[in-house]
Amino acid sequence: MKKILLLGDIHANYPALEAIQNYARPDQFDKVVNTGDFTVYSTFPNETIQWFRKNKKSICILGNTDKRVLRILKGKKLKKPKKEEKRIMYFWTSDNLLPVNVNYLKSLPKHSDFTIGNIRIGVFHGAFDNESETLFPNTPERRFRKLAKDSPYQVHIMGHSHVPYYKIVDGVHFINPGSVGRMFDGDLRTSFAILKVSSEIIEAEHFRIPYPVEEVIKGLKENQLPDIYAKKYRIGKKLNQTEPE
Ligand SMILES: [Fe+2]
Repeated sequence: MKKILLLGDIHANYPALEAIQNYARPDQFDKVVNTGDFTVYSTFPNETIQWFRKNKKSICILGNTDKRVLRILKGKKLKKPKKEEKRIMYFWTSDNLLPVNVNYLKSLPKHSDFTIGNIRIGVFHGAFDNESETLFPNTPERRFRKLAKDSPYQVHIMGHSHVPYYKIVDGVHFINPGSVGRMFDGDLRTSFAILKVSSEIIEAEHFRIPYPVEEVIKGLKENQLPDIYAKKYRIGKKLNQTEPE
C-alpha cells in the first residue's frame, strides 16, 4: 500500500501549506502530488515553491496562474485577467519571485504521471485532454465517461476547480483535493486529500483543517496589496464571479 499526499491550488498561501505539513507529516508519504497553481493571490510564492523544490518525493505540474506568471516574465503582454486587482497580484508575483524559483517553475511540465504496481496515475491541472477545462463534481457524467474511456489512467488527480471531490466513473477514479490556499466555498479551512493505492485497493479521503488566515492577511497588508483579497481570505469566498482562477 502506497500513501500519496494530494495538494493543489496553493496560490502562494504558505501558512496553509505549513498547517498541512504539521497535520499530515509529508515525510510519512511515498509521494506528494501538487496539481499546480503554486502562485498568485497570496504573498508567499517563494516559500511555497521552495517547499516543493526541497521535497524529493514531490510530483508537480504548472497551473494556469503559474503559466501566466512565466509569460509575464518572458515580457509578454498580460491580456487576462482584466480586473485591475487581479493584474496587481500577478505583477506583484512576477516582481517578487526569486530567479531560482522561476527556473524551477520553468522546469515543470503541464501534466505528469506515475505508476504504482499496475495502476497508472495521471496528474492534471484541468482535464486530461484539455488543460484549461475546469471539471466540477457536477460536470455531466458523460464528460467523465469520455475521459475514462480515452485516457490510459485508472486515477486522475486534478485541480483548478478549487472544489474537493472524489468520484469513480466506469472504474476510473477522479480526485480533486480542493484548494490548499484559496477557498471558494465559504469554509476558511485549507483542503487536501490522501490517496492510498495498492494492487487491490484505490481509495481517497479529503481533509479540511484550520490554518492561520491572519498571516496571509498580514502579508497582503505589508505589501500594500488590494484590500479585496484580505476580505476574500476572511470569508473563504470570491467576491466576484467574472473570471476563472
Ligand atoms: Fe487555482
